[in-house]
Amino acid sequence: MSKIQAPKGVSEYFPPRSQYFEFVRETLISSAQISGYQLMELPVFEDTELFKRGVGESTDVVSKEMYTFEDRGGRSITLRPEGTAGVMRSVIENNLDKLTLPLKVWYSGAFFRAERPQAGRYRQFYQVGIEAIGLDDPEIDFEVIAVADRAFKKLGLKSYRLDITSLGDAQSRATHRKDLVAYIAKLDLDEATAERAALNPLRLFDDKREEVRAAMKDAPLLLDYLSPESAANFAKVQELLKSAKIDFTINPRMVRGLDYYTGTTFEFVSEKLGAQSGIGGGGRYDGLMEELGGNNLSGIGFGLGVDRILMACEAEGIFDSSVVRSEIDIFLIALGSDEKAYVSNLVNELRNSGISCDMAYGDRALKGSMKSADKSGARFSAVIGADEIKSGSLALKDMKSGEAKEVRIASLITEFKAN
Ligand code: HAM
Repeated sequence: MSKIQAPKGVSEYFPPRSQYFEFVRETLISSAQISGYQLMELPVFEDTELFKRGVGESTDVVSKEMYTFEDRGGRSITLRPEGTAGVMRSVIENNLDKLTLPLKVWYSGAFFRAERPQAGRYRQFYQVGIEAIGLDDPEIDFEVIAVADRAFKKLGLKSYRLDITSLGDAQSRATHRKDLVAYIAKLDLDEATAERAALNPLRLFDDKREEVRAAMKDAPLLLDYLSPESAANFAKVQELLKSAKIDFTINPRMVRGLDYYTGTTFEFVSEKLGAQSGIGGGGRYDGLMEELGGNNLSGIGFGLGVDRILMACEAEGIFDSSVVRSEIDIFLIALGSDEKAYVSNLVNELRNSGISCDMAYGDRALKGSMKSADKSGARFSAVIGADEIKSGSLALKDMKSGEAKEVRIASLITEFKAN
């Protein structure tokens, strides 16, 4: 029979590399948790309209990359391409903005974009994200950036940079837009590009084509149009980053791939990855909640790309054996088939007491079972035959030193609890 393959461009993790994936994801999550963010577990699919309105129709994400289908009830459903719109939908629907503000949440899971697959760019990929809703304050902008930076430093990453800019408030953007549209009107653009520019003129800063880049060289920059209040906010964010010794570069041409951004926006870029070097990004989205039918509350957050961060960690060679420490404390081997049931029961009892253990399955010779013990990465192993069952004690072998000590089987649980 022919083999079935995974759909094109999905990322997947299996042992042993899945241990590194888990380590990266948990490190990112714990940076959010120690900063007071709480879990939000959201559906993987949503009403298509949520992303059209929330993320914006000028974006590649919405116009080209959504996995959209009709469900059995004839509704248009889309697999989530990002997390912020879903968080907002849930906040509005469940009145979470009536709780103490800012509401600070984190999420982690799979996201879907029908992009052209390449190294570091997948059609199903993983993000850890946070959102802080209901507070428009430079301190919270700083906090969000610091949560990501702390996670990267905790992982041991060194070769990355932080780009920041500000998209200002509504007034700053309106004044800039007028000049930018006038500038763009003088350019000779193809129809598709002109259409994109009409939806969101900032998109042209993000165009990878050399001729468009050249044409945009002298375009007015939003950073030069910040209202006094926006400029003061942005200056404060920079000041806080400096005092926390978080290095950054101001990149006034940075355009995020989603339309909801306002104010402080940022991207973390790894210097060790190829074309797909963005390991995380985010920013403020002060009009999004209202656009989705909720109250006029501000928000800021980020999404970190777990797949790419794992690749960056590998490229920087920062994983050592401490990351892949085995979960297994003790590996038990039944000497013959008569002892199998006894060992099986003992393993079950040890697990009931919270001790991590495993056993050799199947009818392997002792040598093969010893190999399994080695492979399991267990700290200790023991062989149980008729003698051990009769005497009620076994030789507990330390897998690193090779030394063995006699231990009463009945006291195995207390022995391990003490360790
Ligand atoms: P984003 O910049 O579109 O932002 O995605 C965040 C991160 O997800 C990227 O920096 C990248 O590491 C990873 N990523 C995106 N697409 C792919 C892909 N096809 N394959 C692998 N990794 C990918 C957002 O999604 C916003 N929701 C972030 C945010 C939260 N802004 C405010 N709050």
